[in-house]
Amino acid sequence: MPAIRPGATGAVISGWGTALPEKVISNDELAATMDTSDEWIRTRTGIHERRVGGSTAGLSVESGRQALEMAGLTPDRIDVLVLATTTPDKQWGTASLVQHELGLSCGAIEVNAACSGFMYGLVQAHGMIAMGADRALVIGTDTLSRITDWDDRGTAPLFADGSGAVVLEAVDGPGQLLAWDLDADGSLLPILWADVGGTIKMEGKEVFRRAVRLMVDSAEKAMTQAGITADDVSLVVPHQANIRIIQAACDRLGIPIERAATVLHRTGNTSSASIPLALADALDAGRVQHGDLVLLVGFGGGMTAGSCVLRWGGGVE
Ligand code: COA
Repeated sequence: MPAIRPGATGAVISGWGTALPEKVISNDELAATMDTSDEWIRTRTGIHERRVGGSTAGLSVESGRQALEMAGLTPDRIDVLVLATTTPDKQWGTASLVQHELGLSCGAIEVNAACSGFMYGLVQAHGMIAMGADRALVIGTDTLSRITDWDDRGTAPLFADGSGAVVLEAVDGPGQLLAWDLDADGSLLPILWADVGGTIKMEGKEVFRRAVRLMVDSAEKAMTQAGITADDVSLVVPHQANIRIIQAACDRLGIPIERAATVLHRTGNTSSASIPLALADALDAGRVQHGDLVLLVGFGGGMTAGSCVLRWGGGVE
């Protein structure tokens, strides 16, 4: 993973927003249609309920609008829209539709790195700011319920829909991003995949094993590059797949689970949306102060992984 070039224009997050569909499906409701139970799902995954419905564009517009409002920006101020999603509404044009509905007048692209999508999009947006953009809107949205096999108890309890967005603004002096890491291992595609037009297929146990390893490797690379240790991390925002994966990764990284942001008990795994949803939840709860070190770490199908170390608010220590 390359180091950030000295003197590159940095950025800070100046606004955030979230969107979740209204329809809630509890574990008991799932248990009414398949051979599972609330107890099994809670203890094996940490998920109590999930939200399903809406379109990728619709949820993105909602979270993106909130992020713009919080940043106090009119749509014309945004220089680029990056939409991370593995469930676009159409073959192309979902990001363009969001751009249009938000009233933006900039370029709009989609990034697909499965559940690591938001990490890839966030790094990409920092890169565009380093190359001259002043402001970027980064949205992570997925509507996995559309590609979930609702008769498969091995996957149906896990996946759901949602969206989270952040506004990135260029700053003078050091920005928030101290280091980043992006990884992929295509040999692992056969353990978690979906054919075009098909549903999610997964070898759960193997994904679990690999996920912990990928997260730990990626987070350690980013922390080493940033010159920090686990003790320095105030908040870790992991991909929200399974509380046992989060616990195992935190244990191996040496970060107490109390320092992890978690929303999966009420959202399920929302893929590209999971990290921005958990980050927004922690920010709204006042868990992050200026200068805190925040570690974002994701993994997903592909398999992909990615991490960012942020100094909240940017600037020097
Ligand atoms: N309800 C009840 N029983 C279930 C079940 C369900 N929804 N799903 C599987 N089982 C059963 C299995 O058939 C098995 O029964 P058996 O012992 O009689 O054979 C038993 O529960 C244990 O199954 P196993 O697959 O070993 O459970 P697990 O502890 O590995 O948990 C997952 C399964 C899917 C929750 C877990 O492997 C996981 O979270 N993996 C990672 C998935 C993931 O995060 N994917 C997204 C990545 S972005």
